[in-house]
Amino acid sequence: MTRMLRVELSWPEQNTVHVGDDLYFVLAREGTVHLIASTCAHRGGPLHLGEVQEGRLRCPWHGNSFKVDRLCVRGASVVQRGSQVIAYVPAKESAQDEPVVAHALVLAR
Ligand code: FES
Repeated sequence: MTRMLRVELSWPEQNTVHVGDDLYFVLAREGTVHLIASTCAHRGGPLHLGEVQEGRLRCPWHGNSFKVDRLCVRGASVVQRGSQVIAYVPAKESAQDEPVVAHALVLAR
């Protein structure tokens, strides 16, 4: 069973979060926020620096694009209470109950 870590951030002041070496970013769609892993499935490019066009998020490294709806469905489970976002992301085997650091960075737009 995959252990999950609880992540809290204040949207939109914080729009990315590091969990160990993994980066997640918030993508807001139709009034709902989603926490998406930023690592591109192709070669690990930074999806949070990509651009959304016509419902697809384009990776800035090689230009592959991914359906935003699909990314959102595969994203972390999220509960949103006003500006507070609580999400549950998978913890790696080696992860302790390490603190999770939230940041305001660049957001896929
Ligand atoms: S790393 Fe994203 S398209 Fe290649």
